[in-house]
Amino acid sequence: MIPAIFDRRSIRKFLNKPISQNDISEIIQCGMKAPSSKNRQPWKYIVVQGSAREEMLKVFRQGIEREENGNALLPLSKQHLASARHTVDIMAEAPVIIFVVNLLGKEISAELTPEEHIFEICNIQSISASIQNMLLAATEKGIGSLWICDIYFAYQELCEWLGSDGQLIAAVAFGYPGESPEERPRRKTEDVVEWRN
Ligand SMILES: Cc1cc2nc3c(=O)[nH]c(=O)nc-3n(C[C@H](O)[C@H](O)[C@H](O)COP(=O)(O)O)c2cc1C
Repeated sequence: MIPAIFDRRSIRKFLNKPISQNDISEIIQCGMKAPSSKNRQPWKYIVVQGSAREEMLKVFRQGIEREENGNALLPLSKQHLASARHTVDIMAEAPVIIFVVNLLGKEISAELTPEEHIFEICNIQSISASIQNMLLAATEKGIGSLWICDIYFAYQELCEWLGSDGQLIAAVAFGYPGESPEERPRRKTEDVVEWRN
């Protein structure tokens, strides 16, 4: 497991090679083995491939267009729109995209009490653990992955297209890697770890 943690990279170039149904299922099973707050298991996984993936990409691009020229959900993040477009191009190469939904999530614009906010944070932590399990399982199988939050640049459009209950949290692209990137820089251990003995 530790080698998988060290070897995992965000992959942004994929080979034109399908992932077997068995591998996809096993990756999702690994996601479902993640710990979750009060064992609520708030996750749902929507596997998008083939012609559904083409439809989704079209919807994603329409969302980015609206974000740029219409009613923006992220008006202060316009400088990231070019990178969101790049993310969609990467997704267009990946044979499998899994959208991860928080079934217990409130609408993004909902006003929350502190207690509801904490409930939300705990569920999102659980879902993040599930996503990381999937990335590591994929790494061990030699399958590359990219965790994607640029979905928020097409949030309304993707939610509508997915038509799922709950709150969309992230997408993950999977495919056999067409690149072997160097490790991306990490902050220094001494800057992020505090020991209290
Ligand atoms: C919550 C989250 C959201 C991310 N969203 C995107 C994204 O939308 N597009 C993208 O290209 N990379 C995305 N990434 C990948 C990060 O850029 C990447 O993890 C980081 O640069 C470190 O590189 P590494 O994963 O290779 O170690 C995301 C990662 C996380 C954890």
